Amino acid sequence: MKILAIETSCDETAIAVLDCVGDERSTTFTILGNTLLSQIEIHKEYGGVFPALAKREHAKNLVPILEAALEEAELLHEDVQVIPAETRAKISEILAREPGLTKIFFEFVSECEPPAIDAIAVTAGPGLEPALWVGINFAKALALLWQKPLVAVNHMEGHSLSALAQSEGETLTIKDVRLPVLALLISGGHTELVSMERWLEYKLVGQTRDDAVGEAFDKVARMLGLPYPGGPEISRLAETVRTSGKLGGPASKFTLPRPMLHDNTCDFSFAGLKTAVLYLLKNRPELTDEEKKHMAHEFENAVADVLWKKTARALEETGAETLVIGGGVSANTHIRRVFTENMQREYSNVKLCIPSSALTTDNAVMIAIAGFYRALRKEFVTDIIANGNLPLAR
Ligand code: KG4
Ligand code: ZN
Repeated sequence: MKILAIETSCDETAIAVLDCVGDERSTTFTILGNTLLSQIEIHKEYGGVFPALAKREHAKNLVPILEAALEEAELLHEDVQVIPAETRAKISEILAREPGLTKIFFEFVSECEPPAIDAIAVTAGPGLEPALWVGINFAKALALLWQKPLVAVNHMEGHSLSALAQSEGETLTIKDVRLPVLALLISGGHTELVSMERWLEYKLVGQTRDDAVGEAFDKVARMLGLPYPGGPEISRLAETVRTSGKLGGPASKFTLPRPMLHDNTCDFSFAGLKTAVLYLLKNRPELTDEEKKHMAHEFENAVADVLWKKTARALEETGAETLVIGGGVSANTHIRRVFTENMQREYSNVKLCIPSSALTTDNAVMIAIAGFYRALRKEFVTDIIANGNLPLAR
């Protein structure tokens, strides 16, 4: 089954085409085309993602990205297409709220044969609603025009299932998954522990009571005067401390709390950690570069300590046989290292799956993977409503 997947939930416009072969027990995914355009540079000056701007950029980029992905997949065949007036009217209505997209959409599809794909998958949520809508309306228009079934994908399911994929040469495979799977999902908008006891059935084990961990990284980075997105910047500074071997010295005297470390739930709280950084900075308005590095280091240690402790508790509670870590923050070198070492030492019987770095931040490959499993179950839809807070589990 060939799946065309579209992702526009935040600041990445991404489209991928995957050939998916197999069933729920064992699947091989071949990435035929994969195109991604990051808007990070555009949002940088706002210090975060600016929704109206994200929407406009997605609308501008979707057609060129689709063209590139189809071309890479060798599924782009030029041919003049006559679009019946009725279809054209329906599509214009679907795209009415995406100014700028309608014209380029028709220009492109009027000159391209319907590609040989079997279904179109698109992120329905969670994310920024104005951004989600662009992708959804684009997918609906394509599905209508090309007569393809449509699948609505939960972005967090994309992160979680794609983390199960092992790369084997040119392909990704998901097979022999040992249930229950516990997923630690850490991104700019989410921090949650979700268990999958049966395939595609999720239960919420714990979640943040305030800020998401990626949000905390981004906010603390901003306090330290670092550019957006803050996660990679903090990580870079913190690593310099670890590799310099200068853990002592006056600059390392910052101590931050590990919020909710010892309470008896699997919930998190990161707002307090962020406030603690704020207070420390109040007393020292001018941090030296060296001090900034040590603050980043202590902050990252505090986050990793809390994430690990809560995940260990959740492993005990769920009896999970597999642990996956997904979401943008799972790109973090220190968190990856802490989990790899601690799992090896304390839970060597549990399989740890951390996605490859290309799959950690938002992309359309993960949407295609989740879309495939939903399509296998024939969960096709005719309409999709963007839901910024779409839950994966309750
Ligand atoms: O999953 P993602 O790409 O987008 C959302 O769905 O939110 O995650 C983005 C988040 C941002 O907060 C970013 O700062 C964080 O992931 N992030 C990192 C790293 N790379 C990205 N956080 C810590 N360390 C990193 N290396
Ligand atoms: Zn994400």
